[in-house]
Order: sequence, then structure tokens, then C-alpha cells
Amino acid sequence: CGIVGVVGKGPAAPLLLDGLSRLAYRGYDSAGIATLVDGQIERRRAEGKLHNLATTLASFPLDGTTGISHTRWATHGAPTESNAHPHGTSRVAVVHNGIIENHAALREELESQGQVFSTETDTETVAQLLDLYLARGMSPVEAAASAFQRLEGAYALALIFAGHPDLIIGAQRGAPLAIGYGEDEMYLGSDALALAPLTRRIAYLNDGDWVIVSRTGATFHNAMNQAVEREIKLTKLTGAAIGKGNFRHFMEKELHEHPIVIGDTLHRMIDPATRLPVLPALDLDLNTISRICISACGSAFYAGLTARYWIEEYARIAVDADVASEFRYREPPLHSDELGIVVSQSGETADTMAALRYIRTQGCKVMSVVNVPESTMARESDLILETIAGPEISVASTKAFTAQLTVLAGFALALAHARGTLSRDRIEALVAALMELPAKAAQILNEEDEIRRLATQIQDARDVLFFGRGSMMPIALEGALKLKELSYIHAEGYPAGEMKHGPIALIDASVPVIAVVPSGPLFEKTASNLQEAAARGGRIIVLSDSEGAKKLAGIASEVVILPDCDPFVAPILYAIPVQMLAYQVAILKGTDVDQPRNLAKSVTVE
Ligand code: G6P
Repeated sequence: CGIVGVVGKGPAAPLLLDGLSRLAYRGYDSAGIATLVDGQIERRRAEGKLHNLATTLASFPLDGTTGISHTRWATHGAPTESNAHPHGTSRVAVVHNGIIENHAALREELESQGQVFSTETDTETVAQLLDLYLARGMSPVEAAASAFQRLEGAYALALIFAGHPDLIIGAQRGAPLAIGYGEDEMYLGSDALALAPLTRRIAYLNDGDWVIVSRTGATFHNAMNQAVEREIKLTKLTGAAIGKGNFRHFMEKELHEHPIVIGDTLHRMIDPATRLPVLPALDLDLNTISRICISACGSAFYAGLTARYWIEEYARIAVDADVASEFRYREPPLHSDELGIVVSQSGETADTMAALRYIRTQGCKVMSVVNVPESTMARESDLILETIAGPEISVASTKAFTAQLTVLAGFALALAHARGTLSRDRIEALVAALMELPAKAAQILNEEDEIRRLATQIQDARDVLFFGRGSMMPIALEGALKLKELSYIHAEGYPAGEMKHGPIALIDASVPVIAVVPSGPLFEKTASNLQEAAARGGRIIVLSDSEGAKKLAGIASEVVILPDCDPFVAPILYAIPVQMLAYQVAILKGTDVDQPRNLAKSVTVE
């Protein structure tokens, strides 16, 4: 799921390993490097973490100044050394993100022409196809241009060729690739973060592009094989290593960044003079939006789901919120007066990207809520609302999620203001509630001991249920998602009112029920649902404010008291303790907190 390449002047392997380590946050389960040594392709690969590859390289060093490298997140085939990239033959080596959808047909065709495969991977079909073309006497550029025409699916590719030490060929279709311009040295990477320590001068491929990279520059071609220019931009990313500071894990550090991230995001959105949310100019009249459809994946989807409650209540616009992988294939009919919103930390998630492109085919404008302003989604959107969360390294999203919520809350108020669905006083009161969030978030971080105590109570559970209602329902989903991702305990989030139609059957004293239930219009309703669970012997753990905690003391076995807040902002605040809880349980269970098994930070395959 990460690619780094260099056509350089010094030893390639250490530089590639360092680049891969900067992509490691995306999650991976094997890694490998190939370089050209005296014109021949040599490679080293290892299962598991990058230090295994480093150990292999220490025992079996790899010379060469040109090379490609990869961290793999298994899709086709187990995460073994033999399935790790690069794949190839004596003529060509390939690293690949994404999926070659017609690999089975290609394999059959290539085998019938005498190509001998050594793995079951879809990536090897690319290598074998190139190998066949090269064997027929094509040059690397001719072979690559012909091969790209034959590949179906979504991919980013980087190729090196035996006997061509001054060449990497790259291609992008559905998965991103960036080219870095160094001093007498060129780089290629699946995101600019990997290249940032090497150069700030970056060119991005457009979808369908392929590129010929040599030590002195890059020539770009579009999908029709026409030569095209791609602008070199200066990335704002710095090469500084992103450290954990005094924290044990990136996740712990990022949890502690909630107050500052929410503060910075508000600072960007709220006009200090008018105390109203401001939006970047958009060629769209907010008054004429007839409907909004929100599409995202994972935690970002839950941010979208929360926004649905806010936008419908405050701006009175009907909102659909779908996980992107469903939305894109459902192909719902949209009208041009509808607005599409995609939410994504990375701005690269393949399903969300496809949803964005689908929305555009329907003639609708797309607004993206993204954390990486240089990402593909940001580049393809009509309007960007940026979350100011800074790099998020832990695979499980934390601060980016509260930043997404903050942006969407501000957006809902901006819409309400434009459409006159809320009075100025009411909007000012809600903005004031938002402005109190950083201080309250900081207060919650001080409850660490309390959350740790709670964690000891659920670490041995086999199943955990999370309940919430209204705009708190998505926070119940977020709590369950985080717990299962980090601690591998089965957890389900449910709308509390729906509990009686199913999950109530699971409830007994061994199943903790965690309720996110701030005071507000739905408090009493949620409390009755909890009564129903308590009556079945459920072990109820309540997250509420002082008033709510008092009311629920009779049925709860544990109560965590959170700061009082306007119900509007409660989802943002309550997201923090449920994430902290998952973190603490993971610590107790000794799991790999920052890179939980099987998960990837940025899923660039569908
Ligand atoms: C992965 C991550 C999640 C994240 C989701 C969406 O599953 O593990 O933490 O919420 O992708 O990622 P995005 O970058 O689009 O927000």
C-alpha cells in the first residue's frame, strides 16, 4: 500500500527503506526493495514489519542507485515473503498498489504464450506481460505503454528494467502517485509524505497518466499516450520526522492533540469579528441546494452520519449519508441542484474517491472535508473544507475525526445562516458552544485514570454494545469501531431505540453496555432504553454530564462524568472518551496500538 522509487546518484536501498518507513503509518504486512546492480535486477523482501527488511538488508546488502520499493497490505494472497513486492522476471521488476481486475484472463493468455509464473499475485501478471513484450524486442517505454492499455482495475505502478539503470516508469489509475524533483536525482512515491525529506518539488500524475522518470527529469503521458505537462508544485509538508514526543504511541499523542486540533480547525472556520462560520467561495448558491448526499468510509463515515443530524435539524435540508463502497455501486440518481460531500482524512480512500467521481458524473458539485490539502480528493473537488489536524499516523483515526466533526458542525451552521433557518442569536449561541470545545476536550483528557479504570472492566469481555440516540448514535458506532479495531473485542454500536429489535437478546451480565447519553432532548428516551437493558441484567456503563449521571445512577454500574455542553457539540466531545477507552483496553491487552492487525490507514484499493 506504499510505493517509493528513486533514480539516483547514491545508494538507493537506504533511501528507499527510509521512504517506506514514512509510509509505514498506512499499515502493511510485508515489504520489499528491488534495485539495479550492474544492470541486473536484485531484490530483498521480508514478511512483517520493516525492521525485518532492514535485517535482511544488513545481512544481504543491496547496491545500486536506482530502485523501487513497496509496503504491501495483503489483498490477493497471504502476507508472506513470496507474495511481497517487487515481483518480476529477470527483465523487469514491478511494485503495485491496487488490484488488476483482469489478472486471471491475462494470466491464462500469458501462460498459453509460454510465460512461467512464480506467484499467484495479480501483480505478477503485469510483470509477465511486460516480460513478454520485452522478449519480443520492445523497448521498456514501448512495452509499458502497450501493457498499460491491457490492464483493467485500479492501480499505481512503478517499474524498473534490467539494463536500464537510468529509468523508472510509473503509472496511476485510481491510486495516487507523485513525482519528486531532487538535485540530479528523481523520486517517485505513493504520497508526498514519503518524498518530503528528499524534496519539496512535487508533480502529481492525473488519473490515467504514466510517466518516464530519469535522473534528470520526468516525461508525462496521458491515458491516450499523448505527451502532457504536469505542474511542479512546492509541497507544504516538511521532511521533519514525525515523532511520538513523550507519548508511548502515536495514538496516545494524537488523542492529546484533540483540543489543539479542534481549536485550529475552528480558528480557520469562524470569523472572529462576526462570530459566524465562513466558507470558501463556492460557485453554488447555498439557498438552492435541494438535497445533500454524504459519502465516506470508516470513522469519516460516522462524521458524515453525525453531520446528517446537524444539517437536517439546523439547515432543514434532507441529507443522505452512505458508506462509499455501497453508494458508488448503488448509483443513486442525483440532480444538479444537490450537493455531494465526501469526508476523508487521507483524501485518497479508493471507495470515497469513486463516490466523488460518481457524484460529479451526475452534474453535482462536490465539497470535500479532507485533512490532506494536496490529496487527490482535494484536487478533484469543487470546494475543500480543510481539517487542520496535522499528520495523523496512528492507523485508527482520532483527532482527524473530531476535526471532521468540527468542520461539518461549522458547515451546518453556515448553511443555516445562509438559508435563514436559524436566528442570528441561535447561531451565535451554537458557535459559542463550539468555541468552548477545546477547553472541554482538554478537561476530558484529564479523565485518563477514570477511563483506564473503565478499561479494566471491559478488557475481558467477549462482546461490548455501544448505544446512543440522535446525533450521538454515530458516536456509539465510533466507540464500537475503535474498540474492535484496537482490542479485537467484538463490539457493536446501535441506535439505543433499536436495541429492543435485536441486540437485547445478547444482553446478560457478561456483556457491558456503554451508553453515550448527554443531557438533551433525547436523554429521557435513551434512559428508558437503558432501563430495558438493566432489567435484563445488563452491566450499564454511562458516559454523561453531571445532571444525566445523577439521573442514571440507579441503573448504571459505572458512570463517567463529562463536562456539561450544548447537545449540539456533544458528539464531538463524547468521541474523545470512547476513543480513549479503546486505547486503554488495547494497552491492557497488549495489542499493536498504532498498527492493528489487518488494518491499513489509507485504503487505496476498493
Ligand atoms: C481506514 C482507517 C480508518 C479511516 C478509514 C477512512 O479504514 O483505518 O481509521 O477512518 O480508512 O479513511 P479516510 O482517509 O478516507 O478518512
